[in-house]
Amino acid sequence: MSNRMWGGRFAEGPDAIMEEINASIDYDRKLYRQDIDGSKAHVRMLAEKEIVTRDDADKIVGGLDTILSEIEKGDFKFSRALEDIHMNVEARLAELIGPAAGRLHTARSRNDQVATDFRLWVRDTLDTLDDQLGDLMQVLSEKAELHASDVMPGFTHLQSAQPVTFGHHLLAYVEMFSRDRGRVRDARKRMNECPLGAAALAGTSFPIDRKMTAQALGFDRPTANSLDAVSDRDFVIEALSAASLTAMHLSRLAEEIVVWCSAQFGFVKLSDKFSTGSSIMPQKKNPDAAELVRAKTGRIYGSLQALLVMMKGLPLAYSKDMQEDKEQAFDGLASVSLALAAMTGMVRDLEPVTKAMKKAAGSGYSTATDLADWLVRVLGMPFRDAHHVTGRIVGIAVEKGIELHKVPLEDMQKVDPKITDEVFSVLSVDKSVRSRTSYGGTSPVNVRKQARRWLKDLAKERA
Ligand code: ARG
Repeated sequence: MSNRMWGGRFAEGPDAIMEEINASIDYDRKLYRQDIDGSKAHVRMLAEKEIVTRDDADKIVGGLDTILSEIEKGDFKFSRALEDIHMNVEARLAELIGPAAGRLHTARSRNDQVATDFRLWVRDTLDTLDDQLGDLMQVLSEKAELHASDVMPGFTHLQSAQPVTFGHHLLAYVEMFSRDRGRVRDARKRMNECPLGAAALAGTSFPIDRKMTAQALGFDRPTANSLDAVSDRDFVIEALSAASLTAMHLSRLAEEIVVWCSAQFGFVKLSDKFSTGSSIMPQKKNPDAAELVRAKTGRIYGSLQALLVMMKGLPLAYSKDMQEDKEQAFDGLASVSLALAAMTGMVRDLEPVTKAMKKAAGSGYSTATDLADWLVRVLGMPFRDAHHVTGRIVGIAVEKGIELHKVPLEDMQKVDPKITDEVFSVLSVDKSVRSRTSYGGTSPVNVRKQARRWLKDLAKERA
């Protein structure tokens, strides 16, 4: 039997393999709510413009509401023969209300319908990601305020560089996630135009009111070019780009958590709620949630890549290739959302082992720069010379196998006789971080101020 929705010119039905490759209902059923909302807005506009009768429109809206509740109760029978969510809903509508159902598709095509449904879905998802990024920033800022003066080693090349505060380290991620949030918001703003009424590709001869449907669906305006409206998917690609950057940031933090909670570092303790054990090694507590957040990044980048490649060769306007956008986007955006939730839980529960961090912060001659700065400030040495002198003192420490603040004054004076014991006042890690008061620096005063600024901004957002 040929397709009852579009099979007028077909003598035969599709091959089983054709149905297999063509049907999208297994995944695009996710769009049922958006599809029904879009159809209701469309038919109300058709009635307003007297393109369909009020009576038919009421029947259609009533039928669509019935379908919505059938789907939500799990009573709806989805059919692969009906390909996608649009035709599944319309066919059921015909069963429920009879021939009036056939009027719903006036001045519309599945091309503008799917573009509208998908935009609505992506828009909701961006709003969720926006909230989730806010939640993560909140827990990071709270932890940062609490640990504004706890020192840890700051690294470059994963070598001890200079001491920083744990709060400062956490706030670095708040900065990153806030930029991610900005990108999510930009994407939402740019995508918020309604394709409905672009019809197949050229617009329609019916006297529709596109502003009315756009407004009913919460869009800022209708799209201005019907070809563009049905043929671009940049809105979802942009969402996936923003998601990819978020995933990259999440993955870096996840990687740090994995390293920090190893026995060798011992900087943090993860809660049982976000760890797992080993089936053979009873002593193990593994940071699986962090590892999985790190791993999800691959599939999120993958979905972005898939859509970029899928789109790059398509002539205007719609091509069926574009049906492949949904599974990828659903998976990529669900993955980033899950990763955000897992990271928020992990950070909330994370307990820093401040003693271990502090001990590590003092190793690796991490206050050498403070020594050099002292030579510049107090002895008036040019920084390059101070760097050299400090290097020689570090050499003595290495040779003697002691930390920098344990090098005897006499040894330092052999390198430069003008050095006094005042120098020891800058060699402790606490002094070191306290001195970093330049704007954006790691001093506890700065960190506390920044953490409070974030917490205030986040509270304002929620209000
Ligand atoms: N399921 C289709 C998709 O997701 C809907 C649009 C079909 N349009 C068409 N001209 N065959 O892209």
